Amino acid sequence: MQEVGLALFGLGNVGRAFINYLRNAADPGTRLRVNAVADSSGGLFVETADELARISQFKESGLGIREFARGRDVQEPGEFVKLLRSRGVAVLVESLPTNIKNGQPGLDLIRTALENGISVVTVDKGPLVHGFDLLMEAARQGGSMLRFSGTTGVVPPDEITGEGVVEIRGVLNGTTNYVLDEMRERSISFEDALAAAQEAGIAEPDPSLDVEGWDTACKTLILAKTSMRAKTRLEEISRIGIGGETESLVQTARARGLAVRLVGRARIWQGRVRVSVAPKLIQPDSPFFSISGSSKLAVFRAESGREFISRGASSRNSIAELIHRDIIECIS
Ligand SMILES: NC(=O)c1ccc[n+]([C@@H]2O[C@H](COP(=O)([O-])OP(=O)(O)OC[C@H]3O[C@@H](n4cnc5c(N)ncnc54)[C@H](OP(=O)(O)O)[C@@H]3O)[C@@H](O)[C@H]2O)c1
Repeated sequence: MQEVGLALFGLGNVGRAFINYLRNAADPGTRLRVNAVADSSGGLFVETADELARISQFKESGLGIREFARGRDVQEPGEFVKLLRSRGVAVLVESLPTNIKNGQPGLDLIRTALENGISVVTVDKGPLVHGFDLLMEAARQGGSMLRFSGTTGVVPPDEITGEGVVEIRGVLNGTTNYVLDEMRERSISFEDALAAAQEAGIAEPDPSLDVEGWDTACKTLILAKTSMRAKTRLEEISRIGIGGETESLVQTARARGLAVRLVGRARIWQGRVRVSVAPKLIQPDSPFFSISGSSKLAVFRAESGREFISRGASSRNSIAELIHRDIIECIS
């Protein structure tokens, strides 16, 4: 049986969900073994599966790896990443908080890993938004692979390979789906719908990245960089989020039997890829009409005019499943 060494950088919600998932994931022919973990306090090599379970449990209490290790050798993450190859790590899973300003510190960590021949699976949008070309070049130089399905939740459909993509439209943000549906179905204000989403644990205490459209902008940009070779920068994206001012659009939707979704769009205009985000009225026959909650969907239009739909998984395990699938791609 092939054994593959993993390093997990980030042991928050996603990192720990992945550890839980791995306990039950059986992949005939491949055994994934976590050899190393890192959080903001530092990185530690893991001796056994039992120790990994104890670290994961320890992290639930809000304490750091440095406190868990109690005197054992804990390295600063930027230095730790350079040691991984010599300890048999083949794939690094990066789940640091998304920094939309400059992608750091994930960007430097991923770049170093790729240059050192370690493939990377990331769910962190920041490094891709700010360093996509740099990271692709690092992977080329290091003979490694970079996979990032979890950053967008949808992947460009296989059937489109070989065709030029001229437009992408996507509904990619669960929080805004929920808020817009609450506003429409319960005839309530944006403020009340947002409060309901926060109470249900769907919206963050600070929901600005979602409701101001940053999350949709980042995801659409990553898809455009992947499928359309977009050179667009985040600050060039025309972005309208949702708020009190969206209430009249929701009223129109209700009156006409339509839905409202926050739509990200990338298209070619005057020779460049332009990306925009805005709330849109959605007709009942559109594939976006039934996309609610944490479901995601993107439509890729090829030069030939053909359209290809990509649906994202929305189960509780979906982020861990995407990470797993990406790891398998890296080692296949
Ligand atoms: N939650 C989801 O369902 C979901 C879905 C798709 C994508 N994402 C993305 O996944 C990422 C992680 O989300 P999350 O909810 O797991 O975040 P989180 O709970 O805040 O966890 C982030 C983890 O990264 C660690 N970290 C911070 N700086 C670090 C550094 N320099 N080196 C090593 N580790 C560092 C943190 O360490 P400490 O524990 O010491 O603070 C923490 O363990 C985000 O980029 C998010 O956008 C999340």
